[in-house]
Amino acid sequence: MPYKNLLIENENGITTVIINRPKAMNALNELTLIELQDAFIHLTEDKATQVIIITGSGEKAFIAGADIAAMQSLTALEARQFAKLGHQVMRYIEACPKPVIAAVNGFALGGGCELALGCDIRIAADNARFGQPEVNLGIIPGFGGTQRLARLIGKGRALELILTGNMVDAAESYRIGLANKIVPQEQLLETAKQMATTIISKGSYAVRLAKEAVRNGLEIDLERANQYESELFGLCFATADQKEGMEAFLEKRQADFKGA
Ligand code: HXC
Repeated sequence: MPYKNLLIENENGITTVIINRPKAMNALNELTLIELQDAFIHLTEDKATQVIIITGSGEKAFIAGADIAAMQSLTALEARQFAKLGHQVMRYIEACPKPVIAAVNGFALGGGCELALGCDIRIAADNARFGQPEVNLGIIPGFGGTQRLARLIGKGRALELILTGNMVDAAESYRIGLANKIVPQEQLLETAKQMATTIISKGSYAVRLAKEAVRNGLEIDLERANQYESELFGLCFATADQKEGMEAFLEKRQADFKGA
């Protein structure tokens, strides 16, 4: 499907998805969400994609939120539907078996912050600004922000952001654990690609199972989660990558993982 609001680039196993609505600060309207969903369905199966990076076009915004102009006249039922569509998209991102890195190149507000929260790792440019400013519009976060933000940075800090609508800069986002690291804007994509390359150099089954263990394990109690971890740990021993990884270590050489 050709996309109107997304640009997709691929090199060396890394697919970069660029939200491309610069005139609206890459705000998420319905079409953009549908395109993102379609892209993730495709990328999940795409053999040329091992890691996905999501970023925004231009230098000012990652995503400045859901599209306020498009939301303004929604009925309550339409608004609920729009929120559900967003949830579905964040779920595709979160449940994608391939790692997803958000390269946050400016404002990540409202639905933009929520989309970053659906990603596995967030790298912030030094001009990044995160926030859940929905209360300024008389609404609440609707793409999972009330849940994922609290799970990532804790209830108190999440409530402070959500109730005040205040933005945090890159340094503060790093301090509170919202961003994994901060880099100068001009190094943002390069840093994300380096991290992606490091991940790609590992056994892809191990990477996939590790993501699955962390993501699903956090949703259940510790005892069951550890049980689940041991099942996935056992599964690693059905792969050629486990044999290669351990053999390479004992032979004091670099492992050559085949993703098998
Ligand atoms: C639609 C948006 C937009 C948005 C910016 N624009 N954010 N359009 N939806 N979320 C548009 C502006 O209207 C303007 O269009 C252009 O982008 C440039 O924005 P400016 O405001 O002129 O730029 P600047 O002064 O630099 O301020 C940047 C900003 C500000 C701080 C990011 O635009 C802002 O506060 N935006 C709204 C952020 C927000 O409230 N996000 C949460 C949305 S609610 P024109 O045509 O005038 O040039 C949400 C809910 C999610 O996300 C859940 C839904 C279910």
